[in-house]
Amino acid sequence: MITIAPSMLSADFANLEREIRRVEAAGADWLHIDVMDGHFVPNLTIGAPVVAALRPVSGLFFDVHLMISDPLRYVPDFAAAGADLITFHLESDSDPAATIEEIHRLGKRAGLALKPGTPAEAALPYLGQADMLLVMTVEPGFGGQKFMADMMPKLRQLTRAAQERGLATLFEVDGGIDGATAPIVRENGATVLVSGSYLFRQPEMGEAIRGLRG
Ligand code: DX5
Ligand code: ZN
Repeated sequence: MITIAPSMLSADFANLEREIRRVEAAGADWLHIDVMDGHFVPNLTIGAPVVAALRPVSGLFFDVHLMISDPLRYVPDFAAAGADLITFHLESDSDPAATIEEIHRLGKRAGLALKPGTPAEAALPYLGQADMLLVMTVEPGFGGQKFMADMMPKLRQLTRAAQERGLATLFEVDGGIDGATAPIVRENGATVLVSGSYLFRQPEMGEAIRGLRG
């Protein structure tokens, strides 16, 4: 079963409620929400108040992707805002084990994200603790970038490791996912597909989502 998470980064920010309803009507499973601090990545997006404002207008599972330097400090805000899953970066300044523990303490699912330059080995110590691993298939910071096929060995290595240990870890990919790259990530074990610019430019988002599921 493949989960599709349209990335709100490519939505019309002047009409977020309407865009979220469009995502729901198209049959998406999750809403992927990109949080950037202008420090961990060279771009700024939205914070917890926007997530809180969107919570009452949607029943979608909120998949919050924190691209911020100090996630541990902000986890309580995003949990209170209504995030269902909080993903932070292994390369951030926060201790990964402590951050996952805090997310769990707040009753949320925890994801650990890896930038393209970070090897699979760095995530292995947290494999049994994190509910999801996010293998970035572009450099985080912007939508609309080209898919990095050379991330597939890393994805494969991690999905195999989880399988060997009998873990039910989710594997998310984010960046450059479209009709052509979705089969490649699925073959390599991805179970959650984030897609921004591709899905939001579709006149018929539902059809495109079914295509990504394969
Ligand atoms: C990039 C974000 C992505 C972005 C993906 O840093 O994490 O979620 O929205 O956009 P596309 O699908 O256009 O590559
Ligand atoms: Zn993202």
